[in-house]
Amino acid sequence: MRALVLAGGRGTRLRPITHTSAKQLVPVANKPVLFYGLESLRAAGITEVGIVVSDPREMLQPDHRSGELVTVLVNSQAEIRAAVGDGSAFGLRVTYIEQEAPLGLAHAVKIARPYLEDEPFVMYLGDNLIRDGITPFVREFEREKPNAQILLAHVATPGDFGVAELEGDRVVRLEEKPKHPKSDLALVGVYLFDRTVFEAVAAIRPSRRGELEITDAIQHLITGGKRVRSHVIEGWWKDTGRVEDLLEANRIILADLATRIEGSVDGETVMEGSVSIGPGTTITRSRLRGPLIIGAGARITDSYVGPFSAIADGVTLTHCEIEHSIVLARSRIENVPHRIESSLIGRDVVVASRDERPRAHRLMLGDSSRVELS
Ligand code: DAU
Repeated sequence: MRALVLAGGRGTRLRPITHTSAKQLVPVANKPVLFYGLESLRAAGITEVGIVVSDPREMLQPDHRSGELVTVLVNSQAEIRAAVGDGSAFGLRVTYIEQEAPLGLAHAVKIARPYLEDEPFVMYLGDNLIRDGITPFVREFEREKPNAQILLAHVATPGDFGVAELEGDRVVRLEEKPKHPKSDLALVGVYLFDRTVFEAVAAIRPSRRGELEITDAIQHLITGGKRVRSHVIEGWWKDTGRVEDLLEANRIILADLATRIEGSVDGETVMEGSVSIGPGTTITRSRLRGPLIIGAGARITDSYVGPFSAIADGVTLTHCEIEHSIVLARSRIENVPHRIESSLIGRDVVVASRDERPRAHRLMLGDSSRVELS
C-alpha cells in the first residue's frame, strides 16, 4: 500500500506565517505538523510515499530592513523538499509530485495516478494531526477491502469541513462545507481508496470554489453503488489550518511531554511540571511552568514561560511573560509589560518595548497580521 500526502495549497488562513513558508511545516510542540503525519504512515507500515507539492509563487513583501515592498519568490515546495528530503530520516521512500496550482484534493489524486500505479492507497492531508495515528484504520481497510474508507469526527463547526450524512453506519451523502450541515460529522483528512477513485476524480466537475473536491469524488462513488465505509474516530484530531487549531494541537501534544533538560538552567530559575529544554539553551532567573518545550540555542532571561508554550530554536526572551503560545525560530521578545498569551509568533520577529517619549506603539506587520492590544 502507498500513501499520497498533500502538502501543496495556499494556507490562506495562517497568513502572514504562510506568506513565506508552507503551512504543513508550521511546528506543533517544535515539530512540523507534516512530520507527525509521515511518522504515523511509517507506524502503519507504509514506506512508499508520494508528496504533492505546489509550484513556487511570487509575492510582494515588506523588506526586513527598509520596509519597502519587494518581490520575493515564495517556495514552499523547496522548503518541504529540504525538510523531508528523500524520506530516509522517517524510514520512508519519498517521491515528490508537482501540482501546477492548488486545483483541489481530487485534482491531486488525478495527477498522482502514475505514481500510485492503481494500488490501494491512503491519502493524508499534510495539515491534519491525528494524535493516536492511523494504524487501526489502515488495517481495517486492508481487511474489509471496500472501495473507499473515510474517517469522521464530531465537530462544533461542521460548515468548515466536508460533512457526512449517515443512515445507521452507512454513508448516504457527503457535502463540502455546506451552509446548512445535515450532521456534525466532519470528514477527517485521511482517506483510503482503491483504484475506483480514479474513475470518480475523472467524472466530477470543479465546485463553487473552483476546486475538484475529493468529497464530490467520494459522493460519486456512493451514487455509483461502490462500497464506502466510514469510521467515526474517538481520539483527538485537528485540521491545523487556523491559529486557534494550531494552539490547541500544541496543547494536546505538549500534554504528553516528558521532561528533558539538555541546556543549562541557573540556580535562580524555578521549574514546575514537564519541561523540555534543547541543547545550547540557557535559562537565567526565570520561571518555567510546564508542560512546555524550548528548542536549541535559545536564551530565556528574567522571564516567565507558562504552560503549553513551544519556543523554537534560537529564540530570545528577556523580561517578558508568555504562555499558551508558539514562537518560531530566532524571534526576540524583550521588555514586554503584559503577558503574551494564545499567540503565534513567526520567525525572526522582534517584539520589544522602548522607553522613549512619546509613548506609542510602533508596528511593522506583514499582510494579514493580527495584533490585539489591551
Ligand atoms: O481537514 C479536513 C478537511 O480537509 C475536510 O473536512 C474537507 O472535506 C477537505 O476538503 C479539506 O478541506 P480544507 O479546506 O481544509 O482543505 P485545504 O485546502 O486546507 O487542503 C488540505 C491539504 O491539502 C493542505 O495540506 C493543502 C493540500 N492541498 C490542497 C489543495 C486544495 C494540496 O496539496 N493541493 C490542493 O490542490
